[in-house]
Amino acid sequence: MEKIFEVKNLSYQVGETKILKDINLEIEQGKYLTVVGPSGSGKSTFMRILASMISATTGEVLFHGKDIATFEPTEYRQKVSYAFQQPTLFGKTVRDNLAFPFEVRKQEFDEAKVIKYLEMVNLNQDYIDKSVNDVSGGEKQRIALLRNLLFQPEVLITDEVTAGLDTENKAIVHKMLNEFNERGLTILRVTHDESEIEASTDKITIKNGVLQNV
Ligand SMILES: Nc1ncnc2c1ncn2[C@@H]1O[C@H](COP(=O)(O)OP(=O)(O)OP(=O)(O)O)[C@@H](O)[C@H]1O
Ligand SMILES: [Mg+2]
Repeated sequence: MEKIFEVKNLSYQVGETKILKDINLEIEQGKYLTVVGPSGSGKSTFMRILASMISATTGEVLFHGKDIATFEPTEYRQKVSYAFQQPTLFGKTVRDNLAFPFEVRKQEFDEAKVIKYLEMVNLNQDYIDKSVNDVSGGEKQRIALLRNLLFQPEVLITDEVTAGLDTENKAIVHKMLNEFNERGLTILRVTHDESEIEASTDKITIKNGVLQNV
């Protein structure tokens, strides 16, 4: 399998505080990798670096063998998509959010496709014209996730995206992500959820900014 990410001697420091310490890791294309570790251990920071939202202090990250710093940001974001731990919806309506992925690609809004995707996460077409103020936290999470997936990236990074969901909706999201993974999407999933951790076959642990025995 081809390596999609190579992380070499990566550290991240803010002032005197070392948040990530000398991380080395290779991730193969097509993997569904689960990232675990105590709260405050550096998981989200590491994922933000892989998503090129912040830059490592030292070391490098290669994506398909190429330093991520050399990619054009918009292009990179379409290949490596980050689903936030605390998603926010922008604009006035759900439509504004789901139209955005089409706009950045200069494509026309495809309502039939959007309805299909909403249904995949247990939401119906009436949600399109709902105000962003009238959707629940769990609905917001699922809508935000669709923003990441309407156009399939190469890598999806999910940061505790099922944390606010009930069992039924968690299962719906798991099924959808499994299907995307089977179709070739590489997934990096940060979670504290015991059942997700138990079900995962590939797992890494970060403790106190250090990657444990890979
Ligand atoms: N820009 C920053 N400036 C100072 N400290 C930061 C900064 N970003 C992160 N930290 C600190 O780095 C540590 C790691 O944060 P991070 O968000 O990566 O943890 P996490 O493993 O995702 O935790 P959780 O499981 O609670 O989401 C925390 O102690 C956090 O306060
Ligand atoms: Mg976090």
